[in-house]
Amino acid sequence: MKKILTIIGSFQKEGAGMEAVQLFQKNFDEQEYEFEMIRLSECNIQYCRGCTACFKHQSGCPIQDDVPNIIEKMVGADGIIWSTPVYGMNVSGVLKTLIDRTSMMLHRPVLYGKQAFVIATADVGGTGLAVKYLKYMNNAYGMASSGGVGIYSHRIKTDREYQNRLTVQLKKEATKFKRALAIDGRARPSLMQILRFTGWKTKNRLSKDAYPGDYDYWQRMGWFEMPYYTPIKLNVFQKIVVRFVTRRTEKIVSKGMGLDQGKG
Ligand SMILES: Cc1cc2nc3c(=O)[nH]c(=O)nc-3n(C[C@H](O)[C@H](O)[C@H](O)COP(=O)(O)O)c2cc1C
Repeated sequence: MKKILTIIGSFQKEGAGMEAVQLFQKNFDEQEYEFEMIRLSECNIQYCRGCTACFKHQSGCPIQDDVPNIIEKMVGADGIIWSTPVYGMNVSGVLKTLIDRTSMMLHRPVLYGKQAFVIATADVGGTGLAVKYLKYMNNAYGMASSGGVGIYSHRIKTDREYQNRLTVQLKKEATKFKRALAIDGRARPSLMQILRFTGWKTKNRLSKDAYPGDYDYWQRMGWFEMPYYTPIKLNVFQKIVVRFVTRRTEKIVSKGMGLDQGKG
């Protein structure tokens, strides 16, 4: 049984996003897939205050609200579906707040190997940006993005032809998502995933003093000695690109952290 967590970033209980999620989810056999839904509108999610305790210490964020519970559910799922309305050309505020609060998972990617799918709904524009942003974040969390769709809210409600086309599109996307869930997402990472790993590995190696919590975590996982979260073999081309990205990240981090003593 695969567990899928759907995270809804809209306050509208029967909004366009909900309708799209239902259209997507009806392609999954309930004998094989178990769905759980979190409506962020019903959760207590406070703003990140920027104390960086989550990066510095193993004890994590001092705020007591529903975020640790949401993180636990994310970690326990095989796949995550994000659904967001487009507000101001990007994801909704409540979803962005959750992402801010889970930034620690970018530094310590406890979600790696999972699959994610993205749904963004809008009146006229911005789904492209929102889908792109969430796919980028999935990758940054260490997850694989099996796909994403942008949906026009008034048309999903009223336009029969659009609904039919969307039903077909979401069925195809669901098939892709199921296929992705069936394989071990950790076994065959894309070059992009390897490079993102390389970037974080280099950054965390150089951030030992600034963010010891991150450093200790990576050390404990043994990732500083590995080319990816799982033991894979890089080919010659990958090795060259990884070396380049390592050097580049070292340069960027050194400048950003002032390690080069005012030279840059
Ligand atoms: C505060 C706010 C900002 C919005 N910004 C945009 C926008 O930038 N672009 C757009 O096309 N629609 C925008 N919309 C419309 C919503 O994206 C659209 O109604 C969406 O489908 C709502 O999804 P839901 O029904 O699942 O909540 C905005 C709506 C609100 C309330």
